[in-house]
Amino acid sequence: MTEDQRMPGEPAPSVAVIGTGWVGSCLAATLADRGLDVVGVDVDAGRVAELNAGRPRFEEPGLAELTGRALAAGQLRFTTDYAAVSAVDVVVITVNTPISDDGSLADDRLRAACRSLSRHISPGQLLIVKSTVPPGTTRDLVAPLLESDRMRAGDDFLLAFSPERLAESTAMSELRRLPIVVGGLNELSTAAAAAFWRRALGVTVTAQDSLEAAEIVKLADNWWIDLNIALANELAKFCDLYRVDVLDVIAAANALPKGSGSVNILAPSAGVGGSCLTKDPWMVWRSARERGLEIHSVRVSREVNDAMPLHTAQLILDGLDDMGRDPAESVVAVLGVAYKSNTADLRATPARTVVEALAKAGVEVRLHDPVADPAEVEDLLKIRPCRTVQEAVRAADCVAVLALHRQFQDIDFATLPVARPCLVLDGRAYYPKEKIAELRRLGFRYRGIGR
Ligand SMILES: NC(=O)c1ccc[n+]([C@@H]2O[C@H](COP(=O)([O-])OP(=O)(O)OC[C@H]3O[C@@H](n4cnc5c(N)ncnc54)[C@H](O)[C@@H]3O)[C@@H](O)[C@H]2O)c1
Repeated sequence: MTEDQRMPGEPAPSVAVIGTGWVGSCLAATLADRGLDVVGVDVDAGRVAELNAGRPRFEEPGLAELTGRALAAGQLRFTTDYAAVSAVDVVVITVNTPISDDGSLADDRLRAACRSLSRHISPGQLLIVKSTVPPGTTRDLVAPLLESDRMRAGDDFLLAFSPERLAESTAMSELRRLPIVVGGLNELSTAAAAAFWRRALGVTVTAQDSLEAAEIVKLADNWWIDLNIALANELAKFCDLYRVDVLDVIAAANALPKGSGSVNILAPSAGVGGSCLTKDPWMVWRSARERGLEIHSVRVSREVNDAMPLHTAQLILDGLDDMGRDPAESVVAVLGVAYKSNTADLRATPARTVVEALAKAGVEVRLHDPVADPAEVEDLLKIRPCRTVQEAVRAADCVAVLALHRQFQDIDFATLPVARPCLVLDGRAYYPKEKIAELRRLGFRYRGIGR
């Protein structure tokens, strides 16, 4: 049933979103903006206060505006009190689900959320897990924790899993566009979850036969992305051997029709970061291993991608050497510390290893990131970030663009007060050939990943 097919006068379902971090706050604001009555529940009182004041902690384009609008319209509120859950129709769980060092799910937050929820579930409610979990978690961990003598999953309340597949920096538009996958504990749960998402977000729903199938869909997506980037990264190193631009190769290779689409090699980069691609493949590896299956591709892709920050640092050191500069007397300005372009997220950012490797070689590293929180950057890297590009690049021997935030799109390299010649390390900017030629005319040297 799409929103347009809804019966006239049918009230919009009310929703509780459990865990109002990046995923939960984007989802809560979007659902509220679409007219649903939404309460966000979080154990972090500071986060709840910030959200109630219309100040999400995350820099996600459109999130602050939507949150403010929904709060003002009375469609959205945030609380630490789980009692708010008992009055809603649908509960969506979006707490964080990190992994331990051995790749197993660190399930303490999910367990705590389920225990709190179990005291407030009302008959007939639909509960949907959106946090990324190893297959079997919703059935074997979540369902028993939610159940009580008076409440049986599948009978007294419905239970489904729907993976969250948003990408940071484009989440607000993707929420209204990406197809949603659902798998229920029983047919009734699957149907109810599918109807909810069609109604709530107006998106296409792909139903799976089981909870486990839906859980695996999410892992398959991120396994594929990480493996694909590993291919791109090794292809970049391979192209380097022949002084071939990897982006030319990828563009031509991707034009080959294959399967239901075409070859689709993603872009190489200074590394893979964020909270998902660095952990979700390990969930696959660990779950398989517990069942006696060795998954080799996860180890390979994680190893390849984890090596990219050091590779990037080495490219910079080699570039300095080519210019006859001693690392111990060189300055490298890192522009963009977040794990990718247009996000403030520093979780598992490759910039950390790049910066640490350069510092270890004696380089003076300066940082500038107009999106990430300066205090968080300083806390992570023990370097106080510069306030402006100009300040960061003053007399620098290298400008390393590790995340190309929108604010960096129009940098006028001609006016940068850098040393000459100066190396531009393109870790994620993918400058076109004309731009590279212009940089060279301006007295810069250029190195990219595989370029
Ligand atoms: N960030 C992403 O790009 C992304 C994308 C897709 C899927 N996911 C998945 O979505 C889930 C959430 O990710 P995130 O990035 O939003 O995490 P996050 O760390 O930003 O937010 C998690 C929130 O849950 C809250 N929380 C923890 N325990 C709680 C409890 N017992 N009760 C209520 N709230 C609790 C935390 O205080 C925090 O606000 C994870 O499973 C993640 O793997 C994340």
